[in-house]
Amino acid sequence: MIDDHDDLRWENLGPLSDWPDGTRRRLQFGAREIGIIRQGERFFAFKDRCPHRNLPMVAEATIDEESIRCPHHGWSFCMDDGSGPEGSCLRTYPIRRHDDQLWIGL
Ligand code: FES
Repeated sequence: MIDDHDDLRWENLGPLSDWPDGTRRRLQFGAREIGIIRQGERFFAFKDRCPHRNLPMVAEATIDEESIRCPHHGWSFCMDDGSGPEGSCLRTYPIRRHDDQLWIGL
């Protein structure tokens, strides 16, 4: 089991083989709508609601090495910490790999 971030509840997202490069998914955990993207060896998990107008992003967002760009009005958010324009911040979640499984901390 994962032992860092003890304050988090870790949910199993299945085997890494189910998450090939370029995967985009929207998952629901209770009331939380979470977008998960795999780009190369990097995973990014975030609240799938843009802080600008609370619209979903994951399906149509533009991704580059550093950022995710909202498809609605073009705001960009840092994929490391979720920071965006005008002091906004996209809520992010930690992702870990463990024993060929993918986990998200909620
Ligand atoms: S809803 Fe995302 S930039 Fe406007």
